[in-house]
Amino acid sequence: MGGTVSIRARLTLWYGSALLLILIAVALTLYTVLARDMRSQVDRSLEEAAAVAVQALEQRGAVPFISFDDLTAEFPELAVLDKFYQIFSPAGVITIQSPHVKRHNIPLSRTALEAALAGQATLESARFRGEASIRLLSVPISRGGRLFTIVQVGASLNHVERALRRLLTVLLIGTPLALLASLAGGWFLAGRALRPVDAITAAAERIAGGDLSQRLTIPPSDDEIGRLAATFNNMIARLDASFQQVRRFSADASHELRTPLTVMRGETELALRRPRSAEDYRLVLESSLEEIDRVSRIVDDLLFLSRADLGQVPMQSAPVRLDTLLQDIRQQASVLGQDRQIQVTAGPLEPVTVLGDELRLRELLLNLVDNAVAYSKQGGTVELRLTQDRKEARLTVADSGIGMPPEERARIFDRFYRTDAARAHSKKGTGLGLAICKWIAESHKGRIEVESAAGEGSRFTVMLPLAPAPTR
Ligand SMILES: Nc1ncnc2c1ncn2[C@@H]1O[C@H](COP(=O)(O)OP(=O)(O)OP(=O)(O)O)[C@@H](O)[C@H]1O
Ligand SMILES: [Mg+2]
Repeated sequence: MGGTVSIRARLTLWYGSALLLILIAVALTLYTVLARDMRSQVDRSLEEAAAVAVQALEQRGAVPFISFDDLTAEFPELAVLDKFYQIFSPAGVITIQSPHVKRHNIPLSRTALEAALAGQATLESARFRGEASIRLLSVPISRGGRLFTIVQVGASLNHVERALRRLLTVLLIGTPLALLASLAGGWFLAGRALRPVDAITAAAERIAGGDLSQRLTIPPSDDEIGRLAATFNNMIARLDASFQQVRRFSADASHELRTPLTVMRGETELALRRPRSAEDYRLVLESSLEEIDRVSRIVDDLLFLSRADLGQVPMQSAPVRLDTLLQDIRQQASVLGQDRQIQVTAGPLEPVTVLGDELRLRELLLNLVDNAVAYSKQGGTVELRLTQDRKEARLTVADSGIGMPPEERARIFDRFYRTDAARAHSKKGTGLGLAICKWIAESHKGRIEVESAAGEGSRFTVMLPLAPAPTR
């Protein structure tokens, strides 16, 4: 079952790669957005703290060298635990410092000093060996147009960096884990979805082994596999039916051909047994000629049908006046029915034109009329009619003959099928006529139907699409 595994692996692989890309994209976005947000939050809190300090210093006026503790005694809002303050003189020398920065003196950077001289605040990061980065905001305070002092607020980025490191760890471990879990799930699901395919393959192998009675037993469902199984079963059923039909067809064909040959052989052998008069020979030859006609008719019909099956029967498509065609056929049929006093009459014959092959349509109608006469009782009637509605022409051939029971109506269009009543009524006939009629009707995009009751007669109706109205 290499195919199954490879589809399964391919599905899982595709799915896994797509998921990996998505996971990486999500992790990257999450990390960068979060990092930026946390940093800018620190910056904002530095700005707020600086604003408080600037306000305190401005209120207090002159800055003498006092300690930070004295300053916070006056302005308690400056004692913020997670920040430290440094106050620089315009020369960049530290004058006041909050206690928790005392471990290092963080000097004022050159850029900050230059910006301060230009009256601008500076945000910068600094890092000391083995410690978290520090974020520094230096704000100049001027008095009378001169730089008076520089307030610097700082905060450690320690907690930010710790949080980001933790997030990174979670992402680095979580992403591969999520990927693995969903790959395993995908592998399992793909395997489960493809399992019926194995069953189908096994069944197909049994069927290919020649057992056309095999069917797939996949529980019916409307998913892809269910439809595949249903389609597959349908196909096998049709193959089965057509193989059976072919088998029956050739059995029937050889049987139909053997009958006249057996008759000819018997009569010929009998005639040859002793010398006969010329009249006797003539009778035998006449009878043989009849059988030969019959054989060649069967062979012609078979040839026609097999060429029709192969799509090799050329079909013209020209306007055909059905009413004149029917008039013609009525005359021919009257001759056919003469010796058994069968009346062939024409009902209403509307002028109707269809597109088609006149010779084939004539053959179709002749076959129907021939049947109607052949299966009529002595002195019966046959009526031809032609009407039309908006879309189609309706041709009917009705007789008052032997008819047929309803259960046989569907089968009379099969090749070689003849009803028992027909066999009893007339020895002639092979059961190919209606198969040809049906083919001709359908190749004109029409159809043929029959209504009948046993012993009461039949009515065959041929429906053909009308020729499009001539455009003027
Ligand atoms: N008008 C009819 N009345 C009663 N049965 C009919 C009629 N037309 C056809 N059938 C039945 O349908 C069968 C098939 O007709 P079809 O024309 O194909 O064959 P056939 O007439 O027996 O032989 P042939 O091939 O020589 O025409 C007939 O054998 C007969 O049983
Ligand atoms: Mg017939």
